[in-house]
Amino acid sequence: MDRILVTGGLGFIGSHTVVELQNEGYEVVIIDNLSNSSLDVLEGITSITGKKPFFEKLDLKDKEHVEGFFKKHEDIKGIIHFAASKAVGESVQEPLLYYENNISTLVYILKELKKMSSSNFIFSSSCTVYGQADELPITENAPIKPAESPYGNTKQIGEEIIKDTCKIAPNIKAIALRYFNPVGSHESAKIGELPIGVPQNLVPFITQTAIGIREQLSVFGNDYPTPDGTCIRDYIHVVDLAKAHVIALKRLLENKHKSNYETFNLGTGKGSSVLEVIHSFEKVSGEKLNYKIVGRREGDVISAYADTKKANDELGWKSELTLDDAMRSAWKWEQVVRGK
Ligand code: UD1
Repeated sequence: MDRILVTGGLGFIGSHTVVELQNEGYEVVIIDNLSNSSLDVLEGITSITGKKPFFEKLDLKDKEHVEGFFKKHEDIKGIIHFAASKAVGESVQEPLLYYENNISTLVYILKELKKMSSSNFIFSSSCTVYGQADELPITENAPIKPAESPYGNTKQIGEEIIKDTCKIAPNIKAIALRYFNPVGSHESAKIGELPIGVPQNLVPFITQTAIGIREQLSVFGNDYPTPDGTCIRDYIHVVDLAKAHVIALKRLLENKHKSNYETFNLGTGKGSSVLEVIHSFEKVSGEKLNYKIVGRREGDVISAYADTKKANDELGWKSELTLDDAMRSAWKWEQVVRGK
């Protein structure tokens, strides 16, 4: 079976994708610098799939190490590239760190792919590239808006770099997957989302509040022009998202792609408000969540949800799990992690 390299394979989305790849019979090689992950995740993956993926600790900023790695692993058929920094606030404080971590590393990988006779590359992009879209649901043709943060900019620039490279390197086939809001965890609760420090994202903040680590969830604004006044997002279960990566990779491996650079939205197509997410959590967990409405958070868009037609029709992928499923699994994971 084909060998697939997963960079950042011990992270939240990476680890779930490794599980789905192994379930489909692929041989997986993980590289990760462990900056935002731990080797326990390798054990979780092994316990779910019954197979330990090959792992090498590697920092993609180390260009010589990257070159050496690709020389050693000439049989790699596909690359799924997750490794990147992703904290929006931190990126504003440390822009150069973000450009180095997310852009230099991408360039080093693409240089190696250019040397290969054929390479299949999947890139983690984000709906953040659309900003506040003029039309909802958001299609892949929606204009790319100026980025709100260096993090968002790295996703936009990353896509441009891949597109430009594909123009001159016909041996490279690439797909950029634009995630909406990934949430939830594997149903086994052996892997899941483990934010370091205070979570910036809604769902881990909810579960950490319910378990007692955080005092109270702040809901950022209820005066938006939406039905209940809170912001609307498209929350996609991480297991559905992981499966989409395997499907996208197969599309390239089987030469079913329409051009050598493609983009797809990965979302459910359904928007949920912050209050709807809270109510879903309360329903599936039976817990009452302590929350209060506070002022708006700078940089938040009002509403973002995916038009899923292209992913459904072209990629042949559709989300299957619901927001309730995601909240149930996120809660189970939080309880396991905290030993409750
Ligand atoms: C965030 C990132 C985005 C990234 C995406 C990946 C920001 C500004 N944006 O998107 O670039 O691609 O994650 O998952 O960080 N909320 C609260 N209270 C909280 C936390 C969040 O009310 O404590 C609300 C937010 O205002 C928002 C919604 O929950 O309306 C979702 O927030 P979040 O999980 O941070 O995701 P995004 O902001 O959509």
